Amino acid sequence: MRSPKKLILSRTCHGMDILKGVEEILEREKESERSLQMVCEFLRENVEHYDWVGFYIVDGDELVLGPYSGAPTEHVRIGFGEGICGQAAERKDVFVVQDVSKEENYLSCSPDVKSEVVIPILYGNAVIGELDIDSHRLSPFNHGEIHMLENICDIVSERVRELRHV
Ligand code: SME
Repeated sequence: MRSPKKLILSRTCHGMDILKGVEEILEREKESERSLQMVCEFLRENVEHYDWVGFYIVDGDELVLGPYSGAPTEHVRIGFGEGICGQAAERKDVFVVQDVSKEENYLSCSPDVKSEVVIPILYGNAVIGELDIDSHRLSPFNHGEIHMLENICDIVSERVRELRHV
């Protein structure tokens, strides 16, 4: 069997390939938890600088770890305002931290993690979850890629909402 080639995200077309891949997963797998798990694995396997990819689901004023791909983390529940995840949820804003050593309000999972991006997932005006990505590289994220991740969050929003009601 041919092993899938890694897609490098520095060129726009590859960002499009990644988005298409996520759309195909959602088309193929209708069950919310399984589809989000597949999205995590797909992103981690196909973008070289993604070392941990996971979804957090909002529960009251906390974020609860949902499907993820990568090393297990102790941060299975994070309060709004705590760490990068909690700040992104509180401010309903994307956090791109190219060097986590410069972020004071940060919850470390492993010393290997050098950078992190967190994208809130909205349903209407409410934050219902987040996509969290850790990288072992410094400053790996670019603008086009963040835009692509925002698009991914838009298209998985319904699945995240379904997961909240399970
Ligand atoms: N680093 C995050 C915690 C979650 S882990 O990255 C999986 C934070 O500061 O909120």
